[in-house]
Amino acid sequence: MAEGHSPDPVASRRNAPAIALRISGERSGRGMMTAMATFEAVADEYDAARPSYPNAVFDVLGPLDGLRVLDVGAGTGIATRELIARRARVIAVDPGREVLGRAGAHTSDLVAVVADGSCLPIRSNAVDLVCFAQSWHWLDASTRVAEAHRVLRPGGRWAGWWSHARADGQPWFDAYWTAIHHSCPGTHRSQRDTDWGLTVAAPAMFDVGDRLTVHWVRELSVDEWMTDQSSHSYVAALPENPRTALLSALRTIVLDEFPAGTLRVPYETWQWVATRI
Ligand SMILES: C[S@@+](CC[C@H](N)C(=O)[O-])C[C@H]1O[C@@H](n2cnc3c(N)ncnc32)[C@H](O)[C@@H]1O
Repeated sequence: MAEGHSPDPVASRRNAPAIALRISGERSGRGMMTAMATFEAVADEYDAARPSYPNAVFDVLGPLDGLRVLDVGAGTGIATRELIARRARVIAVDPGREVLGRAGAHTSDLVAVVADGSCLPIRSNAVDLVCFAQSWHWLDASTRVAEAHRVLRPGGRWAGWWSHARADGQPWFDAYWTAIHHSCPGTHRSQRDTDWGLTVAAPAMFDVGDRLTVHWVRELSVDEWMTDQSSHSYVAALPENPRTALLSALRTIVLDEFPAGTLRVPYETWQWVATRI
């Protein structure tokens, strides 16, 4: 965080390095470790090929200038960079050192904390906004709402958003998902349709607004698309041979549909914003 911002929601620090990696306590669940390790293994692919988010996602949050913001599950810093560009005072939080290292490589003087988002090393009532860009679902569902509530000031806001390709009905896309369903037990396309706002609504904790849906089109090369796909947790978690076979099958499907080598894929970003009571 830049000089002159006070108070620092994290413990005071002197001579902070360009990226201040802080280690939280040992209270990390098994699920968190698994998810974290999965993304750690594909930090380069994630950094290279995952898309950023539409401006509307940030516009809906209003002026961010000077707001104290936690970007929880910050990963390689895709949302962190957008928040900082809008002059928010951001602390990036993630249990993964590799992904946070990529975030730090993009942003000089990034303040980053290695921690579980369900157990934050942040003072109570300390921040104005806590953001979860495609990360809320990784947190311990039994503690995450209370923890977000604890670190926010009264009237502060929770925001979560997820981007997904939604070319449903196009034969290549349906074939694509059939291949994923076949290779990745426990993964299903319908998981994109979760109403995450419902998971934040809690009596006397948060008022949740309606879902915002942003439609956009992503145009990218087949190589970039495949790098993006390899960074998805359900692909990254596969053993090497099935992963290689799946990625090969997926590449064949997209090359058949886009022989010139460029995809145009409709996306939707779904966002919920909740106000702390
Ligand atoms: C899909 S990535 C999203 C990264 C980034 N927010 C973005 O928009 O690209 C999910 C991130 O959540 C992180 N994560 C997993 N479990 C977590 C937990 N318990 N607390 C905080 N972050 C977690 C992962 O390490 C990973 O970086």
